[in-house]
Amino acid sequence: MPQPPVVQREAVPMLDLKRQYTSIAEEVQTALDRVLKTQHFIGGTELDEFERESADYLGVIACAGCASGTDALWLSLLAVGVGPETSVVTTPFSFFASVSSIVRCGATPVLAEIDPASLNLDPAGVENALKRPRSHRVRAVMPVHLYGQCANMDAFDRMAHEHKVDIIEDAAQAFGARWRDKKAGSLGKIAAFSFYPTKNLSAYGDGGCITTDDKELASHVRRLRNHGSRQRYYHEEIGWNSRLDAMQAAVLRVKLKHLDEWNQKRRTLACRYHGLLVNGGLVQADAQSVSSRAPITLLASVPEAFHIYHQYVIRAWRREELRVFLTQQGIATEVYYPVPLHLQECFAYLGYRVGDLPESERAAKEVLALPMFPELREDEQQRVVAAIAEFYSR
Ligand SMILES: Cc1ncc(COP(=O)(O)O)c(C=O)c1O
Repeated sequence: MPQPPVVQREAVPMLDLKRQYTSIAEEVQTALDRVLKTQHFIGGTELDEFERESADYLGVIACAGCASGTDALWLSLLAVGVGPETSVVTTPFSFFASVSSIVRCGATPVLAEIDPASLNLDPAGVENALKRPRSHRVRAVMPVHLYGQCANMDAFDRMAHEHKVDIIEDAAQAFGARWRDKKAGSLGKIAAFSFYPTKNLSAYGDGGCITTDDKELASHVRRLRNHGSRQRYYHEEIGWNSRLDAMQAAVLRVKLKHLDEWNQKRRTLACRYHGLLVNGGLVQADAQSVSSRAPITLLASVPEAFHIYHQYVIRAWRREELRVFLTQQGIATEVYYPVPLHLQECFAYLGYRVGDLPESERAAKEVLALPMFPELREDEQQRVVAAIAEFYSR
């Protein structure tokens, strides 16, 4: 007897950049060809134009491209004067670079608790950290706009004035996000973005940029990214080679034109996930934490924030088992982030212990990012949620 054919269901990826490329291939090739014809690969018109277009888009006076989001954070911190004998308050629930960039400046990171509803840095935790006596002067506070939703910038703005600290935005995940009517990148003293390929505005390799409304700071970061030099072979200070290539700038210029449409699609997808999860009975409105009764809880969308859903993240009961089940069903998921930064081995010298920042530790055990990219299809979202429902019904 012939066997019935095995129906292989198409996998649902976390991110499929090929779909994006298909939609912009001609524009990208034209842009790359433009650079190839000039054979001008570092600096030049493409970079200048990208910086100008980004600054206009974000509503700031200056944008400076650099080699990565990590460098963007590091150079921003250096430019505002973070260094030895200073400290910076930030979140433990972020990508490693949010804290390593502080250490790289020779400063001490101070990690404050997150808000369990949004998982962004909690202003109350920062306030406590600022009031606590410490040997190092707190020079800056660095909120991270996690998953594409701005941290509470009203509160951080107030703290900047009251405590005389600079606010440095880690906006790596938030190009196009807003707090009230202002864009991420224009909300603090200086901000850092990443163009890593998985980001919502992404390059074809590493890249990043720094934005600010302060002319002095802008020229300082431009110097720092270019060996501390304004004029070739004359060095006012020690800087590094951290530049954004013309090829990357050309790709980013193409993508910037599509960004609002892509971000809007992400918001529509997030809204659909929300509906599917709630209608599927997986979410209980009154649930404070995940349990067998309410296996999924949703993160808060803060009314002042225009969330661009760089990631769509839920809290899940029995997260690890759910992940394995979804993988078996061909559905990709990710955990951002499994270990909060205060418990990373390399930061043990800071002296934090398990239990010091319980909300960050709980989030690390519960968060699960579902597939999210503008080209994700409705049937794929339905499959994701149906598989989650199946797991909890067994
Ligand atoms: C919050 C956050 N900060 C900093 C970075 C560092 O950016 P990059 O990978 O471009 O160095 C990333 C991205 O990976 C990030 O998500």
